Amino acid sequence: MRVLVTGGAGYIGSHTCRLLVESGFDVLILDSFVKGHRAAIAGLPLVEGSITDAGFLSRVFAGEKVDAVIHFAAFIAMGESVADPAMYYTNNLTGGLTLLEAAIRAGVKRFVFSSTAGVYGEPSKVPIIEDMPTNPINPYGQTKRDFEVALEYCRKAYGLSYAALRYFNAAGAHPDGTMGEDHNPESHLIPCIIKAAMDGREVGIFGTDYPTPDGTCIRDYIHVLDLARAHILALGVLEGQAGHILNLGNGRGASVREIIDHTDRVSGLKVKVKEQPRRPGDAPVLVASCQKAQETLGWMSEYADIDTIIETAWRWHSTHKNGYGDTEGRT
Ligand SMILES: NC(=O)c1ccc[n+]([C@@H]2O[C@H](COP(=O)([O-])OP(=O)(O)OC[C@H]3O[C@@H](n4cnc5c(N)ncnc54)[C@H](O)[C@@H]3O)[C@@H](O)[C@H]2O)c1
Repeated sequence: MRVLVTGGAGYIGSHTCRLLVESGFDVLILDSFVKGHRAAIAGLPLVEGSITDAGFLSRVFAGEKVDAVIHFAAFIAMGESVADPAMYYTNNLTGGLTLLEAAIRAGVKRFVFSSTAGVYGEPSKVPIIEDMPTNPINPYGQTKRDFEVALEYCRKAYGLSYAALRYFNAAGAHPDGTMGEDHNPESHLIPCIIKAAMDGREVGIFGTDYPTPDGTCIRDYIHVLDLARAHILALGVLEGQAGHILNLGNGRGASVREIIDHTDRVSGLKVKVKEQPRRPGDAPVLVASCQKAQETLGWMSEYADIDTIIETAWRWHSTHKNGYGDTEGRT
C-alpha cells in the first residue's frame, strides 16, 4: 500500500513514517517544512509543498499512486491559535479541506486524521469516552473538530473510509535515541521540563490548587511510537465506508508534579520549580478511555510506563541539546 503522509517531517509524522517503512509500506511524505525537520526523514521519498496549495496537490495526486492518506500536517499550539485564529483556520481547516478534496477527486478511499483530545474542551467526566459531547475551547481544537465533521459527510457522500485519532499528550522519543521531539517554540510539558533541568532554569507549574491529589493538573501521556503503531493498525480497518473516531491515550494520568519527580529520577538532575497561577482553559484532569481503540484496532500501548516515556525523551534531549540542529541536514 502506498501511503501519502502529510506533515511527515514533524514529530509524530516522522516516527510514523519510519514505522511504516519498517512495516513494509511504501511511503511518500508531503511537507512544507514550515515546521518539522529534513533530518528526521533523511532518505525517504518527499514532495515539498503546502496542503493549502490546490494546484500543487492536484499535481501530486495526478503524478503519484496513492492508496491512503495519513494527515498530520497542521499548526499545533493552542495558545497561538487563540492569538492568531485566522492562521489556524487557514492552515488546519482550509488546508485540510483542500487536501481532502484533492484526495477524494483522485479516488483515494482511506484517510487517517490526527485529531486531538482538545475537541472535548473541559469534559465533565473522566475517563473521556468518544461519544461524550465535544466542546473545543480554542480555535485549534475547533478546527480539528470541524475537520472530523467534514470527514463524516465525505464518508457518506463519497464512500470514504476514515479514522480520526484523538491523541492525548504525545510524548517520548524513539528508543534508539536518533529521533525525538523538536518543536520551536516547545510548549509540551516533558521536553520543557527536561530542557529546563539541563539548563538549570526554572520550570513553571501553572496552578497548584486543582482538585487533584497533589493540586496540579493531570494529563494522559502516550508514547509517540504507540501513536505511530495505532496509525498503521488504523490503515488495516479502513474498509467499506468505515468511520472511526478513536481516543489514543494510556488510560491513566500523571500530574505535573509527578512528571517533574520522574524527570528528576530519570535524569539525576533536580528540576527547579516556580509555582504560578492557573492558566485559563486548563482542565484539572484529562484522561482517555482507550477501550474503543483497543476493540477496534487491537491496540494497546506498549510504552505505558511514564518512566519509560521520560527515559526515551531524556535519551534524545540529552544527546541532541539543539534537537535536529545537532544532526546534519537540518532545515
Ligand atoms: N504533539 C501532540 O501532543 C499532539 C496532540 C494531539 C494532536 N496532535 C496533532 O498531531 C499532528 C502532528 O503533531 P506534531 O507534534 O508532530 O507536530 P509538528 O509541528 O512536529 O509536525 C507538523 C508537520 O506538519 C507540517 N506542516 C504544517 N503545515 C503544513 C502545510 N500547510 N503543508 C504541509 N506541511 C505542513 C510541518 O512542517 C511539520 O513537519 C498535528 O496535526 C497535531 O495537531 C499532536
